[in-house]
Amino acid sequence: MSNIRNKGRPEGELPGCPEAVDKARESSAQPLLDIRDLTVSFRRDGAWRSAVNGVSFTIGKGQIMGLVGESGCGKSLTSQAVMGLVGRKRHERVGGKVLFRGEDLVPKSEAEMRELRGSRIALISQDPMTSLNPVFTVGNQVAEVPRLHDRASRRDAWNTAVDMLDRVGIPDASDRARQFPHQFSGGMRQRGVIAMGLAGEPELLIADEPTTALDVTIQAQILELLRELRDRTGCGILFITHDLGVVAELCDAVTVMYAGRVVETAPVRELFRRPTHPYTESLLASVPTPERDDELTPIPGQPPDLDHLDPQGCPFRDRCPLATDRCASAMPPLEGAGDHEVACWHREVGS
Ligand SMILES: Nc1ncnc2c1ncn2[C@@H]1O[C@H](COP(=O)(O)OP(=O)(O)OP(=O)(O)O)[C@@H](O)[C@H]1O
Ligand SMILES: [Mg+2]
Repeated sequence: MSNIRNKGRPEGELPGCPEAVDKARESSAQPLLDIRDLTVSFRRDGAWRSAVNGVSFTIGKGQIMGLVGESGCGKSLTSQAVMGLVGRKRHERVGGKVLFRGEDLVPKSEAEMRELRGSRIALISQDPMTSLNPVFTVGNQVAEVPRLHDRASRRDAWNTAVDMLDRVGIPDASDRARQFPHQFSGGMRQRGVIAMGLAGEPELLIADEPTTALDVTIQAQILELLRELRDRTGCGILFITHDLGVVAELCDAVTVMYAGRVVETAPVRELFRRPTHPYTESLLASVPTPERDDELTPIPGQPPDLDHLDPQGCPFRDRCPLATDRCASAMPPLEGAGDHEVACWHREVGS
């Protein structure tokens, strides 16, 4: 990545006049990504159903935010909404705001989003085959990123691609770069997609379970690359995972989702020390640790079926030991002290 030029990010362009300084202060207070009341709905059998329901959280520059929650809770859809990859078809609808450096991405056209994708905002998707084109070599696909967005020469872009493939742990990267995706193993394809995501040095990187298919040494190497990218460029990262161990190691803050909603968000240490939502508590209690190997507490019950979710109440109430009638009558708002917020009628931050 060393041969990629500095893209001249907005805060780097500070003319010496007072308004510009004021603007810069304003922009440094402004989060990189500010998701407000995001909804993603699909129409099925004539009815609209929300799979993401009023999600709000922010990511600051240089911050790594973990996004966790059970399978099907809406993590990938949230990331697809940020990328403008959902909401374009007649049966899909995206509501709320996705403010990237203060600019709302939700109303942007596909052409405008294409400009942003890959360079300023990149997604390492959960399914590598959706990102890799079977008819081009992996090297060419990684090289395309610096070619398009940095206007790098063909040779520089190729060298960047080989360097990136090497850094994500592809053995014999210069030879492998000439191969097609079908010649790669699943784990190698995943690393190819990670290389594409990193090669553009985006301002915001979304990594959707990027290391799930990889063995632990490669996983550690990838996490180190993400950290290094953040430290060097100050990018923000949304890291989606099921692995709370990785969250503890990598992330600065965590957002916990349940059935399409945010139930808790907090700085990482705070969340592990003082998990406040009953769902977060049970999520942490269901993680094996060396000390507590045989005392796992699985979360009783099943995650709700989004097709039959009552939009009124707290979606966790059927599995919650604290549930009362109030939980069935209305969804608790996400409230808290400072950057620790929780959505529960029975729990307050600090209580
Ligand atoms: N295109 C779509 N049309 C209809 N429903 C969808 C669509 N994409 C996702 N969903 C539904 O939305 C819900 C959330 O899906 P999403 O992929 O965001 O889950 P996730 O949290 O990423 O899960 P996992 O951890 O398994 O990746 C699921 O119930 C899923 O079936
Ligand atoms: Mg997913």
